[in-house]
Amino acid sequence: MADIPVGSCCMLVLVCFQVLSADVHRGHYIAAVYEHHVILNPNPAAITSRRSALQLMNRNLDIYEEQVIAAVKQGAQIIVFPEDGIQGFNFTRTSIYPYLDFIPYPDSVTWNPCKEEYLFNDTEVLHRLSCMALKNQVFLVVNLGTKQPCNHSDRHCPPDGRYHFNTNVVFSDSGTLIARYRKQNLYFERAFDTPPEVDYTVFNTPFAGKFGVFTCFDILFYEPTVKLIKEHNLKQAVYPTAWMNQLPLLSAVEFQQAFAVAFNINLLAANIHRPDLGMTGSGIYTASESFIYYNMEDDKGKLIVAKIPITPRRETNNNMHTSFSNSPMDHQICRKEDQEAHCEKAETGAQEAPPIFHGEMMYDNFTFMPIMEAEGEIQVCSNTLCCSLSYQRLFVSKELYALGVFDGLHTVHGTYYVQACALVKCGTLDYTSCGQEVTKATERIDFQLQGNFSTAFVFPLLLKSGITLDFADYLGWEKNHYVMQKKGASSGLITAGLYGRWYEKD
Ligand SMILES: *[C@@H]1O[C@H](CO)[C@@H](O)[C@H](O)[C@H]1NC(C)=O
Ligand SMILES: *[C@@H]1O[C@H](CO)[C@@H](O)[C@H](O)[C@H]1NC(C)=O
Ligand SMILES: *[C@@H]1O[C@H](CO)[C@@H](O)[C@H](O)[C@H]1NC(C)=O
Ligand SMILES: *[C@@H]1O[C@H](CO)[C@@H](O)[C@H](O)[C@H]1NC(C)=O
Ligand SMILES: *[C@@H]1O[C@H](CO)[C@@H](O)[C@H](O)[C@H]1NC(C)=O
Repeated sequence: MADIPVGSCCMLVLVCFQVLSADVHRGHYIAAVYEHHVILNPNPAAITSRRSALQLMNRNLDIYEEQVIAAVKQGAQIIVFPEDGIQGFNFTRTSIYPYLDFIPYPDSVTWNPCKEEYLFNDTEVLHRLSCMALKNQVFLVVNLGTKQPCNHSDRHCPPDGRYHFNTNVVFSDSGTLIARYRKQNLYFERAFDTPPEVDYTVFNTPFAGKFGVFTCFDILFYEPTVKLIKEHNLKQAVYPTAWMNQLPLLSAVEFQQAFAVAFNINLLAANIHRPDLGMTGSGIYTASESFIYYNMEDDKGKLIVAKIPITPRRETNNNMHTSFSNSPMDHQICRKEDQEAHCEKAETGAQEAPPIFHGEMMYDNFTFMPIMEAEGEIQVCSNTLCCSLSYQRLFVSKELYALGVFDGLHTVHGTYYVQACALVKCGTLDYTSCGQEVTKATERIDFQLQGNFSTAFVFPLLLKSGITLDFADYLGWEKNHYVMQKKGASSGLITAGLYGRWYEKD
């Protein structure tokens, strides 16, 4: 081995590093999200001073600062924090006041709170965040409560003369406030106001172009989320949330992935970590890969850092597997049920069709049919939606699965119109347990699930044992049916669902 002079060794390393770091970023960027175990005010309804509000918020901000540093060490160019992560939740309109920062319209002034600290009063939180972004040269997306004085000439202005907004702010890597988004679809947040006009917020980055911004419950609605993505043809979105998980169809990671896949978008989703309140589930999602955190076991927050392609590409096999019938509708087994289902019993000599029953799933009245055989084809309908399933069980366990359909207005904890087809594992072997929350399963099932939806917006859910995620082999429209197909899964199935949102009927 020849001796290499120290100087040239260092040169070599330096050159290699430069080539590598340029190459690392070609067509990709590095994103981070932090699932934050928020330190909560034990008595959020009590009135407190700005000073003690800042004390509590600074304890959360101390953790934010550590995580920003850790993320940047791993190369992150942008980091996203969850909704309500700085001040917490369950305030009243009066008790939240000391927690609110003042924020000017970012488009009316160019403001760098770190460099121009004294331009406005009551901006301590923004100041600290801006300095974090500047010092670490990273794009920073954070949710906080803000106040905005208004005049009574504005007919939306609340009687106390100010708006309270649930707000996301974005700082560039130089600490400039470049965007703000005021949450449109509040989720029973009595401390906050809906903005007088809808915010459609995008911001630009040098590493991945435009990002869209929305918050938590917004993900289920057309305004602003869907409109924003379509109008700006977005490929990236940041999404602070404080989401309470609801199985079988609306667990945080399950729906976040479905959203990224449905819109073929990269989604950076940061949730609160409070297992005691059912909140966990964050991730960095591309259309074909998910980097997630889900932990109901302990109180640990989590930093997720991932390198993802700037242009998301769905990598599902476009050739349908042929072992399934190409049109299961041709020889379906189904039954007449009220005025709901009407289809032909075409298969002669087939076993008796499985029973149809009703069950409550996530407060909606689903129509269910159990799967009874080792393989088969079934169909259930509700209103104008018919869902059909071809299935092949890889081994038949002592677990009950049922195909459920719902086509109607959901009215509990929010009002929105749902069309859903879902193959779910039931809680027990009893039909009444179908639709319950289940987190473990052993049975692996090859399936093709489809429905004749009346909306183009269908979110494909595929949740496996232990709240892990999988991707379908095939997804897409076949004439007027949306189809999902999966074969060869490696773990037990909890939910395979097609969750449609018919926004016009909300
Ligand atoms: C907030 O309020 C909701 C409902 O009012 C309650 O279920 C939840 O436990 C409360 N959370 C905290 C942290 O107090
Ligand atoms: C900030 O508040 C102080 C004290 O109330 C006041 O004198 C000052 O004019 C305010 N500054 C701005 C920029 O509003
Ligand atoms: C309220 O109206 C007055 C008079 O028109 C104006 O000077 C002031 O800037 C307005 N304040 C806000 C917060 O819009
Ligand atoms: C669910 O719907 C069916 C059929 O429309 C109806 O017979 C049943 O009473 C409903 N169940 C509940 C709990 O509303
Ligand atoms: C879905 O299929 C069923 C049964 O074929 C039919 O009655 C229903 O009208 C269809 N719905 C739509 C929206 O086409």
